[in-house]
Amino acid sequence: MSLSPNLHLVDNEKMPTEQRVKNLLSRMTIAEKIGQMSQVQSYAGWLTDELAADIKAGKIGSIINEVDLDTVNAMQYVATKESRLGIPLLIGRDVIHGFKTIFPIPLGQAASWQPDLIRQAAHVSALEAATTGVNWTFAPMIDISRDPRWGRIAESFGEDPYLTSVLGVAMSEGYQTEDLANTGAIAACAKHFVGYGAAESGRDYNTTNIPENELRNVYLKPFKALADHGIATFMTAFNDLNGVPASGNDWLTQTVLREEWQYSGMVVSDWDSIKELSVHGFTANDKEAALAGFNAGINMEMASSTYQDHLLTLLSEGKISLAQIDDMVSGILKLKFDLGLFEQPFTNPEQLPELVNPQHLALAKETAIKSCVLLKNQGQTGSKLSQPLLPLSLDKLNSLAVIGPFADDGYEQLGTWIFDGEEQHSQTCLSAIKQLIADTDTDLTLHVAKGVENSRTTSCDGFEQAVNCAAQSDAVVMVLGEESILSGEAHSRSTIDLPGAQEQLIEAISATGKPIVLVIMAGRQLTLGNIIDKVDAILYAWHPGSMGGPAIVDLLFGTAAPSGKLPVTFPRVLGQIPIYYNQKNTGRPVTDASCIHMNDIEARAPQTSLGMTASHLDTHYTPLFPFGFGLSYSTVEYSNLTILTPSVSLGGTVKACVEITNTGSREMEEVVQLYTRDLVASVTRPVKELKAFKTVKLAAKERQTVVFEINTDELAFYNRQMQLVTEAGDFQLWIAGDSASTNYVEFTLTEN
Ligand code: NOJ
Repeated sequence: MSLSPNLHLVDNEKMPTEQRVKNLLSRMTIAEKIGQMSQVQSYAGWLTDELAADIKAGKIGSIINEVDLDTVNAMQYVATKESRLGIPLLIGRDVIHGFKTIFPIPLGQAASWQPDLIRQAAHVSALEAATTGVNWTFAPMIDISRDPRWGRIAESFGEDPYLTSVLGVAMSEGYQTEDLANTGAIAACAKHFVGYGAAESGRDYNTTNIPENELRNVYLKPFKALADHGIATFMTAFNDLNGVPASGNDWLTQTVLREEWQYSGMVVSDWDSIKELSVHGFTANDKEAALAGFNAGINMEMASSTYQDHLLTLLSEGKISLAQIDDMVSGILKLKFDLGLFEQPFTNPEQLPELVNPQHLALAKETAIKSCVLLKNQGQTGSKLSQPLLPLSLDKLNSLAVIGPFADDGYEQLGTWIFDGEEQHSQTCLSAIKQLIADTDTDLTLHVAKGVENSRTTSCDGFEQAVNCAAQSDAVVMVLGEESILSGEAHSRSTIDLPGAQEQLIEAISATGKPIVLVIMAGRQLTLGNIIDKVDAILYAWHPGSMGGPAIVDLLFGTAAPSGKLPVTFPRVLGQIPIYYNQKNTGRPVTDASCIHMNDIEARAPQTSLGMTASHLDTHYTPLFPFGFGLSYSTVEYSNLTILTPSVSLGGTVKACVEITNTGSREMEEVVQLYTRDLVASVTRPVKELKAFKTVKLAAKERQTVVFEINTDELAFYNRQMQLVTEAGDFQLWIAGDSASTNYVEFTLTEN
């Protein structure tokens, strides 16, 4: 039954959204519909006459990058009060790991393995961004990345599909809350759909080739989880995937996302990525690009204007239909209704918490504490230290050297993608140490030197001063790493060592014989093989955000204990990349016994392939640090791993438990991880796959039994026919503190 013309004019918030969308759509001209499908940029800080005219004419559905409150309210005024139909605007912004209060980079947040914390951090970010009228963020980025050369690994949750899924859902929940219409809730965006993290050689925007089976079992998995959770939007990626650029790939967005997954949210293209279809050589011109993007089901075009310029012609030529346009525009209008923008298009910041308030900073500090990973903690051989160096004790130190370019640099600790973050809100390590000295009224003499001006400095001019500082001190804290600008979009590296002269600086300081704690701030895992033996402790802080300094200092001095675990594998050397824990077994898996070093091969040795295995001749086959690894100030022992269900039928529950004991003398938190291996399957399965994890608090000497239950559906994978199946057979199961454990139990999955 069609509605009477009068009913078309009726709209109130009590009507079902679907009806409101239909009513509105029925009143729109084609030009207004196409206008809704365009997102344009504006960051002028004022509303230009030209933009106001376009908004008034209904040519724009969304603005990206304007965060000046008065300007945004003025835009919404024109859109809702001066345009013919009064349709409010989506205001998009990259709020990736904070707005003004900056949290650790997402890769750092992933090292916390704490979905609750990530949810809260995202919520604070949403509340702060919403004060400027932003109602849509382009996060979480849930691209799986196994290549630390790729600068955008900083923005990801690392290499594992399960961890990324859990944390991605938590982040989306934090932005969106349980109702998008809540004050301070903003729409989230699952990006970049898909495969972007597999860029060849880690070079951003580069080609990706991922077989469909691998795509479904690894790269698509977090996207499916976010689609099921109900994330409001998806973003199509820049990359060419198996010969079809993702922003023109109807198989991905129509067949998989819309048809198979029944996703009903809105899809936006990445910046210019529809126009770039022609640069890829996939389309010949903007008009063809618009058609390809449209046919791929992309509701809104970001930045470029191929939709605005060509959809009308494509419609008149019969290449696209009005019904298709209506369908696309409905998705956009629905989001605007869901966000409550028709009822409340304007922003009153007084309804929202103050920016960078003490609670927000406290959460940023807590998140940074949980994100740091303790990689090494040893007493120095032959030194006065027989105990682990960390935590440092104020009572035992008379003097401390603080060395490195990042010890007191509020900007560099913030990390990539902080469009709105400001250095003035940062608290650095040096300022936090000084604060600690003041608060405790301690007589600790500080000797401070940068050593190198920034992370890329190749000059050794600052070494002498730094060495003198170390020589005069009881211990040394070095804060080194990568500047923020060395990671992030289009900031990939071909080597991932500590850049510049930093390794030499470590050598020079190490030569003083003083105990050294190395704190690393970086946007990716770095190769630490050259320097690991030259320092006594390593705390990996990623780029820790506004409160990085106090968080690190709490950890260094033991007010807090490290609990972070690696969300990525640390290679020994660059050439091991890609190295990740959930690899396949191969037909010739390498073992310690079969791993030959080239220095052990005799000159003119005869050639043979017998007994050869999958290894390099010039490095070990294992990583420097495995996925899931991280130390604390206490030690934990795993014992009595038990499978409670040695035989489980399909659809049943696998139950297993382990005892964990805090064998040390202080309280600790341990991220307990459960991995499985499907030994024989119709498609080969990884040697280990993370299936569950729990954070457990243990008092000193406490023992707890940790029980896991996982449904057999969690063991499903895509087979050769690309069906999601769970196959009966034998499995191994580990519950451990990292992915390198060798202690497993077995269970059998049986047909019903
Ligand atoms: C390009 C990036 O790839 C994407 O992640 C981001 O959200 C958009 N630009 C908007 O800034």
